Amino acid sequence: MKIETIRNLDLKGKRVLLRVDFNVPLDKFGRIVDDTRIREALPTIKYLEDQGARIILVSHFGRPKGKVDEKLRMEPIGRYLSRLINHDVLISREPIGEKLRDRIRYMEFGDIMLLENIRFYPKEEKNDPNFAKELAGLAEIYINDAFGTAHRAHASTDGVAHFLPSYAGFLMEKEIKYLSEILEKPQRPFFCILGGAKISTKLGVIENLIKRVDKLILGGALVHTILAAKGIKIGKSLVEKDLISEAKRLLKYEDDSKLILPKDGLVSKDSKGKQAARVSDFSDIKPDEAIFDIGPQTIAYYKELILQAKLIVWNGPMGLFEVPAFDNGTYKIARAIASTSAKTIVGGGETLEVTKKLGLQKKYSFVSTGGGAMLEFLEGKKLPGIAVLQ
Ligand code: 3PG
Repeated sequence: MKIETIRNLDLKGKRVLLRVDFNVPLDKFGRIVDDTRIREALPTIKYLEDQGARIILVSHFGRPKGKVDEKLRMEPIGRYLSRLINHDVLISREPIGEKLRDRIRYMEFGDIMLLENIRFYPKEEKNDPNFAKELAGLAEIYINDAFGTAHRAHASTDGVAHFLPSYAGFLMEKEIKYLSEILEKPQRPFFCILGGAKISTKLGVIENLIKRVDKLILGGALVHTILAAKGIKIGKSLVEKDLISEAKRLLKYEDDSKLILPKDGLVSKDSKGKQAARVSDFSDIKPDEAIFDIGPQTIAYYKELILQAKLIVWNGPMGLFEVPAFDNGTYKIARAIASTSAKTIVGGGETLEVTKKLGLQKKYSFVSTGGGAMLEFLEGKKLPGIAVLQ
């Protein structure tokens, strides 16, 4: 995959718009619990700083749906970045327009400015060309280092690149290089472990990936909709009712042992984990109970499978890991993947959070900053944020 990078550019004094993915998880006190995505952007930021560019960082944070959301301002992230690189970061709340352009004009060589959450603008996700042009008007060069958002065709990931000379940053380059090798020549058996809450965001991925992997192993609440499609009574477990009939399409893959579903789960009446949970093989879930984690039989079975693989890709938790009573499945799988001799790739917001919390990140062959982006890349899809740079 040929992509233009920034190595041979003359960047001195240039106004550079650098798209990063600073969509990081926060705890209930608003503290960053996993800074992987920020740290991974540092090589590009530092290079631009050393080259004397005037760096204008732009990122989304959460899903504010085109409106200002006080809880999703970039300010805490900007302060964090500033401490991390020991360099002032100008944090701008200024809307994109004349005043902001003026502020940028007065930036010194090597200065860094972080713009406000780009998803506060409704035109961002619409990939509005006029908005993209305004954004482009802030800079002379555009660099995309936001691999985690490369599967979105938004103004700051796609549109803007039509108005400026555009390049990939070092993180983008690294992710593409590593994942392309996997895509072209995967070691086999190649197993993908997929978790998370919603089947709506993963249905397409499951249907595409199943054609490329030897086994697709599922966990997390997304499984509930498939269990419901099998006619299993799942009580008040989280389910996407409108997708039950679509989920039925997946059952044929279970028949030929390509799609692997949990054999048991931890069920409880209480999502806070205060009441005791019990193990169920899904045959006796009561109407007031819900599934919150994979059970011991499933953990043992998945660990066995992990040992058989030569290549493992993991994205998404196996249960409601935020609640200590339901973190066992996710943690055990994270550890099992970390200790195999197979090539291991993990990625995605919650997955990074877990692996960081367990101190395991160095144990995997590759940690991707992309969740959806990594999976879509491995499906063989052309990601808009990359295609536009080619
Ligand atoms: C992610 O967290 O996967 C990326 O930052 C993209 O976020 P999005 O799913 O809200 O577009």
